[in-house]
Amino acid sequence: MKILAIETSCDETSIAIIDTRSFRKNSTIAVLAHNTSSQIKIHQKFGGVVPNLANREHQKNLVPILVKSLKEASLYKEARSKKQELRRKRPQKNLNSRFLILDSILKREQELFARIREHILPLKKPHIDAVAVTIGPGLEPALWVGINFARALATLWDLPLIPINHMEGHIFSALLKAEKTNAKLQKPNYKKIKNYKFQMQKFPAIALLVSGGHTELVCIKGIGKYKIIGETLDDAVGEAFDKTARLLGLRYPGGPEIAKLAEKKNIKNISISLPRPMIRSNNFDFSFSGLKTAVLYAVQDLKKQYTLKDIQPVVAREFQNAAVEVLITKTIAASKKYKTRAILLGGGVSANKKLRVDLTKASKQNNIPLLISPLSLTGDNALMIAIAAFFNQKKAKKNISSLKANAHMRLS
Ligand code: KG4
Ligand code: ZN
Repeated sequence: MKILAIETSCDETSIAIIDTRSFRKNSTIAVLAHNTSSQIKIHQKFGGVVPNLANREHQKNLVPILVKSLKEASLYKEARSKKQELRRKRPQKNLNSRFLILDSILKREQELFARIREHILPLKKPHIDAVAVTIGPGLEPALWVGINFARALATLWDLPLIPINHMEGHIFSALLKAEKTNAKLQKPNYKKIKNYKFQMQKFPAIALLVSGGHTELVCIKGIGKYKIIGETLDDAVGEAFDKTARLLGLRYPGGPEIAKLAEKKNIKNISISLPRPMIRSNNFDFSFSGLKTAVLYAVQDLKKQYTLKDIQPVVAREFQNAAVEVLITKTIAASKKYKTRAILLGGGVSANKKLRVDLTKASKQNNIPLLISPLSLTGDNALMIAIAAFFNQKKAKKNISSLKANAHMRLS
């Protein structure tokens, strides 16, 4: 089975094409194409993601990324036969009616529609079995572009459409392990096959999902059986990284900047201590807005004596220590309470080295196997959506008009 997946929930435009033929035999999934275009540079000057700008950028990027991906997967074929050329010039009735349907699906995405008309309409239907798309959670204007693009492709190529929850995608990213490219699988017409081994898990498992919009602990009883057992009551941890970075005069996204600074030397021997919010609360919820406020006061105080450059590494390190300690303490506690057989870590913040290293230590000490998203798949990407779609084939829809963006979609 070949699945084409689309992800546009935030500021990455991403498309993946996977082939699941060898899954039954050896749990591997062949990635025929996976291309992501980041809009970070565009949003950076605004200090965060601007939803309507994201919508416009997705409209610009989706078609070029699809064309590139189809070419990489050897699925790109122009309709060259005379008959088809003629049909293109003098659209027949059924082509005309498809055109009208596309026009109505994409009435709010005229720029995207123009690109589809020029570059996708003249193509032969590729050998793909289903289209998958993220329908939430995320920024509504960003989600809609991906959804309507997916609806247009499903209509044009007469394919089922599989709606996917973005957070389930992050869970699946933790279950993938990159494999060395297998020469035997390098079919001559598949130029860029990369394989991922799917690490089937023993359940229950606990997933810690950490990103710019979410901080959740999810108890997984089996694939598709999720229960959110704890979440942030205010800011997401990625948001706290971003806001702390801004207070320190660093650019967006703040996570990688804070992580880099935290490794620098504290030349002036400055010492600070920040709170570990809710670390001893008897539930699995989080709160990061107080930590951010504590950073604000600490920075204001230290600035009376030191330069911003002097305090940056100290504050970055203590903030990172505080955030990571809270995340790990709660994850281990949840895992003990639910007697889980594995811990999963995914989402943009799971790129954080200290979080990866410390959670590895903590899970070893507690004898709980840990599965961490490969670094290349921590951020938003369509590969995780494609894999989630493979396990959610039952949700495939033929009636695609009912598909809607769900900005606040939950796992349970
Ligand atoms: O999952 P993601 O790419 O997008 C959302 O769905 O939100 O996560 C983005 C978040 C941002 O807040 C960013 O600052 C954070 O992940 N992030 C990091 C690191 N890399 C990205 N946070 C801490 N350390 C990192 N190395
Ligand atoms: Zn995400």
